[in-house]
Amino acid sequence: RIAGPSGLVIFGVTGDLSRKKLMPAVYDLANRGLLPPGFSLVGFARRDWEDEDFAQVVHDAVKEHARTPFREEVWQQLIQGMRFVQGTFDDDEAFERLRSTIDELDKQQGTGGNFAFYLSVPPGAFPVVIQQLKKSGLADQSKGSWRRAVIEKPFGHDLKSAEELNKVVHEVFEPDQVFRIDHYLGKETVQNILALRFANTMFEPIWNRSYVDHVQITMAEDIGIGGRAGYYDGIGAARDVIQNHLLQLLALTAMEEPSSFGADALAREKTKVLGAVRLPKDLGADTVRGQYAAGWQGGEKVIGYLQEDGIDPESKTDTYAALKLEIDNRRWAGVPFYLRTGKRLGRRVTEIAVVFQRAPHSPFDHTATEELGQNAIVIRVQPDEGITVRFGSKVPGTSMEIRDVSMDFAYGESFTESSPEAYERLILDVLLGDANLFPRTEEVELSWKILDPVEEYWDEHGRPAQYKSGTWGPAEADEMLARDGRSWRRP
Ligand code: BG6
Repeated sequence: RIAGPSGLVIFGVTGDLSRKKLMPAVYDLANRGLLPPGFSLVGFARRDWEDEDFAQVVHDAVKEHARTPFREEVWQQLIQGMRFVQGTFDDDEAFERLRSTIDELDKQQGTGGNFAFYLSVPPGAFPVVIQQLKKSGLADQSKGSWRRAVIEKPFGHDLKSAEELNKVVHEVFEPDQVFRIDHYLGKETVQNILALRFANTMFEPIWNRSYVDHVQITMAEDIGIGGRAGYYDGIGAARDVIQNHLLQLLALTAMEEPSSFGADALAREKTKVLGAVRLPKDLGADTVRGQYAAGWQGGEKVIGYLQEDGIDPESKTDTYAALKLEIDNRRWAGVPFYLRTGKRLGRRVTEIAVVFQRAPHSPFDHTATEELGQNAIVIRVQPDEGITVRFGSKVPGTSMEIRDVSMDFAYGESFTESSPEAYERLILDVLLGDANLFPRTEEVELSWKILDPVEEYWDEHGRPAQYKSGTWGPAEADEMLARDGRSWRRP
C-alpha cells in the first residue's frame, strides 16, 4: 500500500503535535518507501518563517522523534516538496498564497491536485479554517483529484458543540472527505482487538454475559499536563480521552462481528454498540473524578495540578476519571464495563481486561483455591504490547494448591516486523482514502451523548477528589468497585 501522488498541508505546524508526531510520521513513511516520489509537505502558521526555516524545524523534529533511522537521501528528496505559508486563519490573502503554493507544487512535484489538510489547531479554530478552505476554493476537488480534511480531537466539547462542528464541516466537505483523528485506532494493538476476536474460534464463544464477569479498560499515564494548561484546563480527563479513546476501545471490545473490515461495516457495528451503552442511574456512586496533588513520581517530587503553570488555582478540572457503563443488548446485559483514566498515576499503561466469572463449581477444597483470582484475557495496548491470559494452575508439590499463572503473547517476541507509529498509519490511510480507522460523525456524537450527563452531574456536584501523584487515583474509585464486590487490576 503506497500512497499515490499527493501532498499534506498542516495547519498549526508550530504546535507540539506537529513536531512530535506529524513531521516524524511523514519522514518515517517516506523512509519506508510508502510516499510517492513528489510528495509535498506544506506548513501553515503565523510564525515569520521562510521555507528553509520550516525545513530546519522539520529536520530537527525528525532527528529527535522519528522511529526510523535518518537517511540523507530520503531527506533530500523530501525537502524538494517542502513549503511554508505564513499567515493567520482569518487572513484571506494567506489562503490565496496557500492556493498558489499548491498549484505550483502540482506542477513542480506532480501532486496531481491531491491534498489533505490537517487541522492540528486549537478546537476553537476548526470552523474558521474549514470556512477559509471553502472560500479560497481549496476544498474543491477538480475531476480526478481529491481534497480531504483531517480533524484532530477534541471534536467539540459536548454533543451540542460536536453537532455544530459537524454542520460546519459538512457544509464544506462530503462525508468521505472527512477524517476525524482518534490516534488510538492507529495503534497496532487496538487493531488487533478485532483480529483476536474474529480471526480465532477460541475467544468469541466465551465473549459474552454467560462467561464474562466484567471488563476493565484502563488508560493510565505517569505524566502530568506538561505545558498543555491552555488546552487541558476546563476539558479534563473524561473529555480528553474517555469520550474518544476509551469509548472506541469499548466499542471494539464489545461490538458484534462486522460483515467486512470495510469502513461502512465497521462504523455500523461500532455505532450500534455505542448506541446501546447505558449510564448508571446513580452517577454519584458509579462515577469518580480526581485531581492530582503533589507527590513522588519516578523518584522525583512533582507538583499538584492546581500548582501547575497556567492552571486556575480554583480549577475543578478532572485529571482522573472513572465510570461504570453497561451495554443494553443480549450479549452484554448485566456486565459492567469499568473505564478509568488519569494523569500522574503509578505508571503508564493502557489495557483492556476481560475478567471472567469464577468456575460454577470447584471440586477442590477452599484452601486449595484461596489464592486463585478470576480468569482474565488482558489486551496490553501499551507499553509492552501483547496479550496475557490469566488462569489457575496447580502449584508443584504434594498438596493441591492452585494459583494464578500467565500465558503471554508479546509482539516483540512473535514478530520481527516493527509497528508503525499510530500517526504514521493514520496519515498513510488519509492519503490512500481509507477510512476504516477513523470515527464517523455518529460515533463521535454518540460518545458525547454518553458523557454529557456525567459532565453535567460533575458540574453541579462538588469538586474532584485529590489523589497523590504516583498513586492509582482517588480512594473513591476503589470504593466504587468494592461496592460491586470487585477491585481494579494493578497492571
Ligand atoms: C491524547 C490526549 O489524545 O492522548 C493526551 O490528549 C494524552 O492528554 C495522549 O496524553 C496519550 O496518548 P498515548 O498515545 O501516549 O497513549
